[in-house]
Amino acid sequence: MYIGVDYYPEHWPENMIEEDIQGIKELGSNMVRIGEFAWHLMEPKEGHYDFSFFDSVINKLKKQNIDVMFGTPTATFPAWLAKQHPSILSKDENGAVRAFGGRRQYCFNSPLYRKYSAQITEQLVKHYCSEEAIVAWQVDNEFGHEGSDMCYCEQCHKEFQQFLERKYKDINELNEKYGTIFWGQTYNEFTEVPMPVKTITTHSPSLKLDWARFRSFSLNRYAHEQTAIVKKYKGDHQLLTTNVSGGFFDKWFDHEENLEVMDFVSYDNYPVWGGQTEPITPAHIALGHDFNRGLLHKNFWIVEELMGAQGHDVIGYLPRPNQAKMWSYQAFAHGCTNMLYFRWRGMTRGAEQYCYGVVGHDNHYGRRYKEVQSLFSEIVHYEHVLESDIKSDVAVLYDYENIWSWRFQQQSEGFDFTQELLRGYTPFYKLNTPIDVIPASRDFSSYKVLVVPALQIIDEELGKRFTEFTENGGVIIFTFRTGIKDKQNNIHFKQTLPGYVKEITGIEIHEVEALSSTQKAAIKGKGPYEGEESSASVWRDIITPVTAEVLYEYDDPFYNQAAVTKNQFGRGTVYYVGCGIEEQTFEKIALDIVKQQHIEHRESEDGIEVYPRKLGEKSYYFLMNHTSEVKVFKDIVLQPYESRVVENIQP
Ligand code: GLA
Ligand code: ZN
Repeated sequence: MYIGVDYYPEHWPENMIEEDIQGIKELGSNMVRIGEFAWHLMEPKEGHYDFSFFDSVINKLKKQNIDVMFGTPTATFPAWLAKQHPSILSKDENGAVRAFGGRRQYCFNSPLYRKYSAQITEQLVKHYCSEEAIVAWQVDNEFGHEGSDMCYCEQCHKEFQQFLERKYKDINELNEKYGTIFWGQTYNEFTEVPMPVKTITTHSPSLKLDWARFRSFSLNRYAHEQTAIVKKYKGDHQLLTTNVSGGFFDKWFDHEENLEVMDFVSYDNYPVWGGQTEPITPAHIALGHDFNRGLLHKNFWIVEELMGAQGHDVIGYLPRPNQAKMWSYQAFAHGCTNMLYFRWRGMTRGAEQYCYGVVGHDNHYGRRYKEVQSLFSEIVHYEHVLESDIKSDVAVLYDYENIWSWRFQQQSEGFDFTQELLRGYTPFYKLNTPIDVIPASRDFSSYKVLVVPALQIIDEELGKRFTEFTENGGVIIFTFRTGIKDKQNNIHFKQTLPGYVKEITGIEIHEVEALSSTQKAAIKGKGPYEGEESSASVWRDIITPVTAEVLYEYDDPFYNQAAVTKNQFGRGTVYYVGCGIEEQTFEKIALDIVKQQHIEHRESEDGIEVYPRKLGEKSYYFLMNHTSEVKVFKDIVLQPYESRVVENIQP
């Protein structure tokens, strides 16, 4: 098990390095991550490579038995490269060049950037391939983060047209599939196809979705090229990863494809960042872990765990004592096996002066240092528990092409995909049952329950898989706007909605209405929920039940049809939640489902998370108090933000 910090020795006087390493050691560390932004230090002039600084640092680390994860430095290229080859710089939607000065301003389709990246990566990995202390390589840093996944430069435009030419038989097929007859947009050749840059009104939905597919192709091609070089030259003892940033559903690349070439997934866990006045919800934090565990379907590392307040020009919430430690316990509970805290000492110069580290700018080893030390001293006792696999009965499905379709056409100004996924994820999270968060393309036949939030794009093949899952006894919960589109991002033609799942849902949808995030549609319970009154926001499908039972209907003088339905199909059950129902309404449905499906779960007070892990016959429960109050779970008292592992809890 590796535990430690992200360390930037190049930021500090060389005479502090030994003292730093001593302090890192006394923290309880056995690993540091270094190098991911130090390209200029390693290649101060084109073709002049110099690794002597890091050679010396690594030798000092080895004396303290501290191993290394080394980051390839391509997220921050040298100024000399930008000056010599400005074509490496990406452009925003207005065609403005992203100036040298921040980071990640490179274009993934720049042939020159791909060449220089390959060179520094090859030189670096060749230099350290036999270094026993370097046990892992991190490729680049947080691909696509901070808006870097989009570029509208000429290189991208040309590559996009070539991408389309490879995808379609000929320009006529593209015209047909896009429906370019609409507004007379028919192309005679691929070189006429634009990027979806600013125009009057908006572009074709098919063009926009292909553009998103191209963005993902561009980023992942660059990532895989670099990964192949690391694989070619690294030592057999060295593993490969890249670190996934938060906001993973707001990125223009398919993360499963990005990570498929890596040995393991790494994640940067920041429950609060920048000007946020409070952390994201405990469920939202947990979603991040379950998403990353789902990428390679195995446990993962965290290579940036928050300890101090973080931000660039604006910061916000300061984690309360033991709260960051509790977030670490939560991460370990959800499948993290190795953890590095960001960062050893807060940097006094440069853009991240306000990213507070484990150690203060004044080099004071204070509360944050002691909190990390305490976490490290405790968690090492559970190393084998953390290595155990997590078995989930519930899976939440997502699909990047569907997410991109929503991002281009929000339909309701209250729609946000992550929030809609959380609407279905949170009720099961609160029942303390493990949840897998996986792509819809993954085999989901082994689960008992599928939560399928806002999946617009369903084709015949996926429809058949849902049907088979239900026939075999599975439970599916679809939410609104399910199955309205095909993979060209076009509305299904002559298909009564929800497309390809009409039979299994036992409903038809002929009328819809977008609600804002503040508008509410009143709904009232029927059948088992008779007498319940609730409301919905964001969207409502006006459902006509065919074989389905009505669980809630709209309390509306004009459209009083069904809002939420339940249909028996084969040996299974299919729920359709046709509107943005409130959390407690969803929680009632989720509780009924886990009981009917005999899914292990535990009810706990809001803010108390109980995560079960098993090692052989033994059970362990990770308890996290996400609140500022003293809480009691069963007979266990938890102080504010306390976290711990217990081996037995009352049933
Ligand atoms: C991200 C980056 C780091 C640093 C931190 C600051 O996760 O990976 O380089 O910028 O945020 O919080
Ligand atoms: Zn570009």
